[in-house]
Amino acid sequence: MKILVTGGLGYIGSHTVVALQNSGYDVVVVDNLSNSSIDVLDRIESISGTRPQYQELELRDKSAVTSFFEKHKDINGIIHFAASKAVGESLENPLLYYENNLNTLVYLLQECEKHKLANFIFSSSCTVYGEPDSLPITEAAPVKNATSPYGNTKQIAEEILVDLCRVSETLNSIALRYFNPIGAHKSAEIGELPKGAPQNLVPFITQTAAGIREQLSVFGDDYDTEDGSCIRDYIHVVDLANAHVVALERLLNKKNKSNYEVFNIGTGRGSSVLEVVHAFEKVTDQKLNYKIVDRRPGDVVSVYADTNKANNELGWKSEKTMEDALESAWEWEKKVRGI
Ligand code: UD1
Repeated sequence: MKILVTGGLGYIGSHTVVALQNSGYDVVVVDNLSNSSIDVLDRIESISGTRPQYQELELRDKSAVTSFFEKHKDINGIIHFAASKAVGESLENPLLYYENNLNTLVYLLQECEKHKLANFIFSSSCTVYGEPDSLPITEAAPVKNATSPYGNTKQIAEEILVDLCRVSETLNSIALRYFNPIGAHKSAEIGELPKGAPQNLVPFITQTAAGIREQLSVFGDDYDTEDGSCIRDYIHVVDLANAHVVALERLLNKKNKSNYEVFNIGTGRGSSVLEVVHAFEKVTDQKLNYKIVDRRPGDVVSVYADTNKANNELGWKSEKTMEDALESAWEWEKKVRGI
């Protein structure tokens, strides 16, 4: 079975390539290296013992996408990660986000239709829920107005899939709504390596501990939560990667209940920013330099997943703990920095 992974050298993509290889799939990776590095291929090979097929491909180039599928007529499934994901950048450059996250999806789906490719897994996000009305949040919760072009691209992408699945004779798709992925592979060969200053919490924590950033800013301690900081559902990236294999197999084995399905992929546990900071301090036995600053505009107060549908229907459950994730993130950071 040959699986195409777009954005397969990125953070979640690379962990998913390893998980697919561990389950016996042949993987073809395409990536444009805009937020990833070619040496991830070597790192994947050093973990799994197999080098995935690779092609540098710009998915915004429609004719290049068409040529790719002419060459690879034997693809059994697609996991589509390739996208831009920085909320702030999307506010500054919305068209880049609409082009990167939506044109590319349309081109891929056109090829799926043309070649009658059936199995398509899409990277969605809990950002589609906005500020939830009740917690934990189920897949039935309403999609709220997006607060950023990035979030809007995830909502529109889901709508594109819904509309296409309504009429397609062949396509089956699953959108996985990720909560907050953190951590790294236990080998410390692959992990999260943002270009420039990290926007996300855990890479900012590990870079601060490594001395690359002077101080972590905790965005607000005056929210209506137990310790006043925001609450998220942090999921180990290896658990998240495994969810893709389970979702793919649901489609390959024709176990899906309809040709478009959505699942929350989280742990079901909410943790505050300060809880994450203190868990990191405990796991690594060191004090982290942080200060409380103003709230970050656009942050939701609290969001965590109801995972019943993923657990019972998809047959997937997160297994790793916050401590596992923070320890692996720190091992990865140390290895990258040569500490
Ligand atoms: C958001 C989106 C997520 C998206 C991701 C892309 C929501 C609920 N989630 O994640 O779907 O994929 O952006 O980047 O909209 N924090 C600090 N200091 C920092 C960094 C973060 O205190 O330096 C806090 C934030 O205020 C937040 C938490 O840590 O409370 C997590 O932040 P972050 O890692 O940026 O993820 P989200 O904003 O939740």
